[in-house]
Amino acid sequence: MSFLSAGIMLSLRVSLMTILVGMALCQYYDYDYEPVGQVQAPSPKCNQECDCPINFRSAMYCDSRNLKFVPVVPTGIQYLYLQNNGIEEIKAGVFDNVTDTLRWLVLDNNNLTNAKIEKGTIDKLTALEKLFFSHNLITEPIIPPSKSLDELKMMHNKLTKFPGGLLTDKENLTSINLQYNELTSESIAGAFKGPKKLLSLDVSHNKLRKLPAGVPSSLEMLYADYNEIDSIGAGYLNKLPALQYLRLIPAGVFNVTSLVELDLSFNKLQSIPEINEGLEQLYLQANEINKFELTSFCKYISPLNYSRLKHLRLDANNITHSNMPPEYSNCLRQASDIMFE
Ligand SMILES: *[C@@H]1O[C@H](CO)[C@@H](O)[C@H](O)[C@H]1NC(C)=O
Ligand SMILES: *[C@@H]1O[C@H](CO)[C@@H](O)[C@H](O)[C@H]1NC(C)=O
Ligand SMILES: *[C@@H]1O[C@H](CO)[C@@H](O)[C@H](O)[C@H]1NC(C)=O
Ligand SMILES: *[C@@H]1O[C@H](CO)[C@@H](O)[C@H](O)[C@H]1NC(C)=O
Ligand SMILES: *[C@@H]1O[C@H](CO)[C@@H](O)[C@H](O)[C@H]1NC(C)=O
Ligand SMILES: *[C@@H]1O[C@H](CO)[C@@H](O)[C@H](O)[C@H]1NC(C)=O
Repeated sequence: MSFLSAGIMLSLRVSLMTILVGMALCQYYDYDYEPVGQVQAPSPKCNQECDCPINFRSAMYCDSRNLKFVPVVPTGIQYLYLQNNGIEEIKAGVFDNVTDTLRWLVLDNNNLTNAKIEKGTIDKLTALEKLFFSHNLITEPIIPPSKSLDELKMMHNKLTKFPGGLLTDKENLTSINLQYNELTSESIAGAFKGPKKLLSLDVSHNKLRKLPAGVPSSLEMLYADYNEIDSIGAGYLNKLPALQYLRLIPAGVFNVTSLVELDLSFNKLQSIPEINEGLEQLYLQANEINKFELTSFCKYISPLNYSRLKHLRLDANNITHSNMPPEYSNCLRQASDIMFE
């Protein structure tokens, strides 16, 4: 049996934000952050289905117009916006005039499947920096050969795997979003080896049983909540010295019914997280806890509803025995050992 333990304890800088804040995952789509000063000559011809603004000539806007396939992209276009269509297909040749110049490709909110993305399309883009592919129907990642890729978003798809080796040459990749897919721990083995500047990885809302292996030590944000993770491998977090944000467990609730020991010491918790009533050992020393609420331990109190907690460490917090409500003994009837200092 594995316990959620030493890992968290060893990383002082990990702040388990999720526990403190009931956090709504809000993904926002900001398509308006255009690079400035992109006026180029000669101005590209615009595809008649799309708009190319006079003051941003290297961009072509083809979003939100019921397109079923990607239109031919004219020479000179670097930023291509195709979100919010019903696009099902990318036909060979559409990018032929921009294979080494296209930098942004935005395909969010379409109906793309792997089967209908022909060879000779994304697999020819050698200068792509941003690939936004969220809210489609792909089952396997689509990765361009570009070594300049810095941002990859494929959330809300049907990815069942992310094979190792796809990202090995992506030296500038800083951000990967894969939340809301169907990835398992086995299917992502080795996936994130390579990108040495990776700062942010979101694999939340998948089917992982453990934290992703082999992630770069540059990582600052790792979101892996809403998976089936019930342990952190020994030393896992020691290999991530830059980590600042870790989300592991659904907001506020350590509701893993099999868990008997939970170590969240040396974090920045300000309250005692909700735990399941079967938990026996809870280590919360060296946090910033300043209140003691029985609801963290017992939702109901009855002859059969009570906390099985035996050992509770609360030393090195801002709390003393006097913060305990008098009725605690009913809920914490098995707690033989509660440490305040
Ligand atoms: C693609 O490039 C060829 C050769 O430069 C040119 O003749 C053609 O018009 C271009 N097509 C588009 C759609 O820009
Ligand atoms: C995408 O496909 C689904 C079913 O395959 C369909 O219901 C939906 O309307 C399509 N979306 C668009 C924008 O065409
Ligand atoms: C990576 O980024 C640096 C700094 O922006 C840039 O100089 C370099 O050319 C990029 N590498 C690739 C392969 O695009
Ligand atoms: C906790 O888990 C149990 C069993 O898995 C489930 O029935 C219950 O709804 C969960 N409670 C919360 C608050 O998520
Ligand atoms: C726990 O309390 C709830 C609400 O009072 C009750 O419905 C439930 O039967 C109790 N469970 C046990 C195991 O006593
Ligand atoms: C500790 O708790 C006391 C009383 O609950 C409060 O006045 C004080 O500001 C707290 N100190 C810190 C550092 O949170």
